[in-house]
Amino acid sequence: AQLEKGGYDTFMLKEIFEQPSTLRDCLRGRIVDNCSRVVLSGVELNKERFMKAERITLVACGTSWHAALIGKRLIQDFCQIPVEVEYASEFRYGNPVLNEKDIVISISQSGETADTLAAIQLAREKGAFVYGICNVVGASIPRNTDSGTYIHVGPEIGVASTKAFTGQVTVLTLLALSVGQLRGTIDNETLHNILVSLDKMPETIKEALKVDDEVKKLSKIFAYAHNFLYLGRGYNYPTALEGALKLKEISYIHAEGYPAAEMKHGPIALIDHEMPSVIIAPSDSLYDKIISNVQQVKSRGGAVVAIVSEGNQAMNDIADFCIEIPEVPECLTPIVASIPLQLLAYYIAVNKGKDVDQPRNLAKSVTVE
Ligand code: AGP
Repeated sequence: AQLEKGGYDTFMLKEIFEQPSTLRDCLRGRIVDNCSRVVLSGVELNKERFMKAERITLVACGTSWHAALIGKRLIQDFCQIPVEVEYASEFRYGNPVLNEKDIVISISQSGETADTLAAIQLAREKGAFVYGICNVVGASIPRNTDSGTYIHVGPEIGVASTKAFTGQVTVLTLLALSVGQLRGTIDNETLHNILVSLDKMPETIKEALKVDDEVKKLSKIFAYAHNFLYLGRGYNYPTALEGALKLKEISYIHAEGYPAAEMKHGPIALIDHEMPSVIIAPSDSLYDKIISNVQQVKSRGGAVVAIVSEGNQAMNDIADFCIEIPEVPECLTPIVASIPLQLLAYYIAVNKGKDVDQPRNLAKSVTVE
């Protein structure tokens, strides 16, 4: 097993550091013609289905459900198709109303999650076109879909999903762009700009991983915390949910992810000097808004770790700690912002002496209801 960990202490750390190469594998052959076009065979072979789609429903569990929330935003922005996101376990018993103009997209690393499998079987019975985004080739879910895309990030052994999440979000981005180009709902310049950045994502993630030492040091400061709040807006509200889930799973510290502006409707009551917040605040269209959310946390005595775009000065004066990430187009910020969040959860758990690869009570894939 030591050999399989490739010199890292744990599978999880190996998988975090592998992301530059797993994303290269995930992107391979899918961005063509000098970053002017996306080719996803699953979309190419089913053009008519994607052209006539009136609604897309994304179904998944756990981390894959967080990827789905980002997918919703991507598909709305670039395809102008209404999108719903459902927990597979709720969808399957929710009497969903579907017809042949519906596309149901399942997202699953393992392809064996019982609820997700049941959800797509139900969707197919009801006449929807079912598309799978999966990692494990030939798993039950891809065998039960009409078409799909593999994320190709290699085997994920750590129970806490890391490289599969960034692979899922990458494929959802490619999917939204490819359907957008098909339906003519994205202009060439926007498409090109995003594809140039996406194509460079492996190098960008390599850069992002350079915060490793800084995050390791930072993790020691929070030995006192029994609760964490993770806040983000827009594209990074799901990133906040995912950051919180990572911390919960491997460190057993209670963490809540929340849309930053929703905090004032309840969770703000929790904030005091014992409850730190991690705020995802890249320089995007909601940056000015999130600054005021940071101030609200600070004025109640909570420590703030802010994830910001490189070169950001303003946040330094407000937050207690800033972690910089490379600047990318807004729709790609969740992929990059996930890196310091994975590392933060990792080191907090390691400091507490937890078994990060096999956290208590959790299985890598949940094949029972
Ligand atoms: C992720 O860290 C979790 N261990 C878990 O939430 C997982 O994402 C979920 O069980 C779904 O698994 P799947 O992607 O294999 O379907």
